[in-house]
Amino acid sequence: MRKPLVAGNWKMNNPIESSRTLLQKILYNAEMLDSILAKEENACSIDIALFPPSVYLREAQEVLTGSDLHWGTQNVSAYDEGAYTGEISASMIKGFGCDYVLIGHSERRCLYEKLELDQYVLDQIVAEKYAQAISHDLTPIVCIGETKEDYESGKTEQVIARLLDILIEHKGAHSLSKAVLAYEPVWAIGTGHSASPEWAQQVHAFMRARVAAHDKKTAQGLRIIYGGSVKASNAAAIFSKPDVDGGLIGGASLDVEAFTHICFAAALHQK
Ligand code: PGA
Repeated sequence: MRKPLVAGNWKMNNPIESSRTLLQKILYNAEMLDSILAKEENACSIDIALFPPSVYLREAQEVLTGSDLHWGTQNVSAYDEGAYTGEISASMIKGFGCDYVLIGHSERRCLYEKLELDQYVLDQIVAEKYAQAISHDLTPIVCIGETKEDYESGKTEQVIARLLDILIEHKGAHSLSKAVLAYEPVWAIGTGHSASPEWAQQVHAFMRARVAAHDKKTAQGLRIIYGGSVKASNAAAIFSKPDVDGGLIGGASLDVEAFTHICFAAALHQK
């Protein structure tokens, strides 16, 4: 059985004053949802993780400690410590009570792409961050997805396999039992147009099979979530697919009602 995960990526949004309120409202709704789900016959409990900007980690820790909600950061350094201006290490993140970290989000990749780094090199950096997270007992949510250009030229599986193979080569397939994968087609992020549930299922099944070729048990238990324009209106259809174990939610995670609906949809679809 895989417990669904709904992760809210706030990106670089919300002033400090409204961040605390948003955390409190999400927590309140999550607790209400728990009592509603307890009465639903076909519902299961889910994991909810929030990713506010790192400068609000103190607020997240204060509001969410003692609850069932998790929190984390939108990035982590590939290094332990040292002269890396602007970076945040895994142990610093851990110090704020985080248990998750987002890795390899396409919006961060774009920054490096401007430096004209090759995709293979970028995947290596993601693998180093992955290793940092795992060794500090943080659960990495590794984002993998193809650009519009790759999608249109039929390279989706090639792009996904490249990163998955590097992770497996670096840390072994079994390390994925401590991780979550997020299929995030770049063309769907922030566009309002999500992938179809059928397409998401096809890609998720490919990802699971790729891991299963090395370690069947790990693949079976591995949570693979979908991200890219998930909304209250399409979450249930996407989460109903057998290999979709929840969602990584951007824009809709800033809307308490929408985010609660999405969590509810995930709770009705345990795999
Ligand atoms: P979106 O973002 O839901 O706003 O498309 C998803 C993400 O970037 O993780």
